[in-house]
Amino acid sequence: AFTPRVFSGIQPSGGLTLGNYLGAIKRFVDMQGSGVETIYCVVDMHAITVWQDPEALTRQTRELTAGYLAAGLDPTQSILFNQSQVAEHAQLAWIFNCVARMGWMNRMTQWKDKAGKHAEKASLGLFAYPALMAADILIYHATHVPVGEDQKQHVELTRDIAIKFNHDFKTEFFPITQPVIEGAATRVMSLRDGSKKMSKSDPSDASRINMTDDADAIAKKIRKAKTDPEPLPSDLDGLEGRPEARNLVNIYAALAEMPAAQVMADMGGKPFSEFKPLLADLAVAKLAPISSEMARYMQDPAEIDRILSGGADRARAIAAPILKKTYEIVGM
Ligand code: ADP
Ligand code: NA
Repeated sequence: AFTPRVFSGIQPSGGLTLGNYLGAIKRFVDMQGSGVETIYCVVDMHAITVWQDPEALTRQTRELTAGYLAAGLDPTQSILFNQSQVAEHAQLAWIFNCVARMGWMNRMTQWKDKAGKHAEKASLGLFAYPALMAADILIYHATHVPVGEDQKQHVELTRDIAIKFNHDFKTEFFPITQPVIEGAATRVMSLRDGSKKMSKSDPSDASRINMTDDADAIAKKIRKAKTDPEPLPSDLDGLEGRPEARNLVNIYAALAEMPAAQVMADMGGKPFSEFKPLLADLAVAKLAPISSEMARYMQDPAEIDRILSGGADRARAIAAPILKKTYEIVGM
């Protein structure tokens, strides 16, 4: 039996979106202070699986940390740190590289999407990314990982690695981690195309709400969001086949912290010309204070670095004995 422990991370690959906020950060905050240890990471080693300008990487690492803090993560309640500062992640990842199979990695949809037809030119790190992610999680014996829907397959691979390691070495050393994918906004979609997820890497800025967008930009993007001409239905079944409408309802529900069914009950029958301004006001009310707090934290980068360094010390205190024991099990 493993003590429940929560771990998750986000890449400092530039610009947090509303998808990252609702699918990840907001849920990290919700899990904090529930009596379970919470460990949240800035995964810079994942970010460099694709090219990152060094100065930008440093800045984005601080920005993401500022986003964590501004959204309500408290470094006295959660462990907040930067992945590369805790070398045990890379050390365990190597062992997992030797446990995981090439075929498992080949099946990852994110690998196929990101490497595309140019797999020969992709970095070896991009291919091995899920084994590093397994190490991130298992170096803390984390039992629960809050993530968006797009990360489900990677957490399943983490489970496969734990199962194979435990089997190969005749041990029960690693827990079989659960993904925690819940709430109204586990997959926030593009505002321009209801079949694509909202992403910081989408070339169209109008497709996403950035955490740093001001009130005018947020209102404009929501006003211009793609929708169909029908008014909102009065129940969830009425959203069938209407992905853009469903997405806006889900965003509203997650921001308002109410079930989507309640949004339908309240808003059913309204045309988008009425619903969109309500959604824009809600988004501005929830996001503007976070983005101004982020800007305030960014004025003191030294303080951010101190927080990350303190978090790394606490993370290492958990990780080091788990790595030591892993080496013993492997015979190293
Ligand atoms: P991105 O996918 O934006 O490049 P990451 O891969 O670092 O960022 O993901 C960080 C977290 O944000 C993960 O838990 C991921 O599932 C979540 N996430 C990213 N985009 C979305 C989205 N559109 N909807 C819900 N969650 C998302
Ligand atoms: Na992602």
